[in-house]
Amino acid sequence: MQNCTHYQVEQQERFLNELFDLLRIPSVSADSTKNNDTAACAEAVKESLLKAGCDIAEVCLTAGHPIVYAEKIINPSLPTILTYGHYDVQPPDPLDLWTSGPFEPVVVDGKIYARGACDDKGQMFMHVKALESMHATQSMACNVKFIIEGEEEVGSTNLGKFLEDNKEKLKADIVLVSDTSMISMEHPSIETGLRGLAYMEVEVTGPNRDLHSGVYGGAVANPITVLSKMIASMHDENNHITVEGFYDDVQELSNEDRIALNAAPFDLAEYQSELGIKNVWGETGYTTLERTGVRPTLELNGIWGGYIGEGAKTVLPSKAFAKISMRLVPNQNSHKIAELFTAHFNKIAPDYVSVKVTEHHGGEPVVTPTDSIAYKAAEKALETTFGKKPIPTRGGGSIPIIALFEKTLGLKTVLMGFGLDNDNIHSPNEKFDVVNFYKGIETIPYFHKYFAEMSQGEA
Ligand code: BES
Ligand code: MN
Ligand code: MN
Repeated sequence: MQNCTHYQVEQQERFLNELFDLLRIPSVSADSTKNNDTAACAEAVKESLLKAGCDIAEVCLTAGHPIVYAEKIINPSLPTILTYGHYDVQPPDPLDLWTSGPFEPVVVDGKIYARGACDDKGQMFMHVKALESMHATQSMACNVKFIIEGEEEVGSTNLGKFLEDNKEKLKADIVLVSDTSMISMEHPSIETGLRGLAYMEVEVTGPNRDLHSGVYGGAVANPITVLSKMIASMHDENNHITVEGFYDDVQELSNEDRIALNAAPFDLAEYQSELGIKNVWGETGYTTLERTGVRPTLELNGIWGGYIGEGAKTVLPSKAFAKISMRLVPNQNSHKIAELFTAHFNKIAPDYVSVKVTEHHGGEPVVTPTDSIAYKAAEKALETTFGKKPIPTRGGGSIPIIALFEKTLGLKTVLMGFGLDNDNIHSPNEKFDVVNFYKGIETIPYFHKYFAEMSQGEA
């Protein structure tokens, strides 16, 4: 903690306790029975921003969950950092796989366990506490604005409009986000891209009602069998995706970029053993880092139909369903991919079933520059606190609003994440290392400082 301010060391325990208060609120955006908690969480985030020193902090109502906006302008001639994060979390299910309550945060072996510990309450709160430290020690170097939303995990449906409606208010020089991962405490890194997402739901219908599988089975197509075959055909023997036109807009990496990407420390044996698998799987001709970072994929998120209750029921179901998502890379477009998928799914459906395809929320891929002042400031900040120059990596996840920051507000983003890939985000026993939480609080003020200094140099 050699680069921590006295204030940060003194307040460490309180910072953690205040994070725990946030983690106790079950702000599950997908669960409408939790709407009161989501609203309470927005209120708590607003209060924390006022306490941190913001002059303005407000809860902005939307058609969905509220957005928290806050700002502290210390000097209009200084650069402005717009910090983005989200206070909503994924549902905690399956509950029986948690070793402690998802909304009863605990520290075990130096790790905070709770839903949202890493994604994204823990990481978002680092920025609140970093601001509080800078404000308390009169060391703010930039103006700050905050957007903390409550709908990231359900596609940021109402945030796009908020950006459109508040262009003037949201004027800034850079967007700073901690909602991604780094390689490890030994290998700090900065994600320089996020994948896009197209999310589809399909329904396959056979006969007009459930049938006795003895009376009709073998003579009438079973929609579960048909759907399974259709799904299986979506990857060929090289695990390429067979949706026509799927790869048309995919930007191939240059050889130089591929070499750089694969130079990141990565231990395949450890990756496999940590996941309990004997071997990895994926598109022929690409490494694991490429498969998750720069190649598009197609995944089954869920499949259901027929009888899944206790015991056995002999039935030929009328319908089968699946949720299928595709991670996208530059220059794929989520709506175009959704259309290609729909056309393909209709085309491969045999005439003994009918199919229905619907599109859920999605988002566009982004690549963030590494030659910008903001990237260099982040690099120097991490180097200051980790003693090592961070390496650029590509993240596999998606944050739909990032593309809109650029499109609507003309702002680039720096993804300065402090999570680890094995933090179990979206999964039982989500965790965030206490040291990563403190490292974030320690590093963020350096970003502000270097960004101000480097912008000055530029002007
Ligand atoms: N913070 C994650 C995205 C993420 C995780 C990026 C790890 C890079 C590394 C975010 O909260 C998330 O889960 N996004 C969703 C998309 C959303 C539309 C539900 C995702 O990636 O599935
Ligand atoms: Mn997140
Ligand atoms: Mn998430």
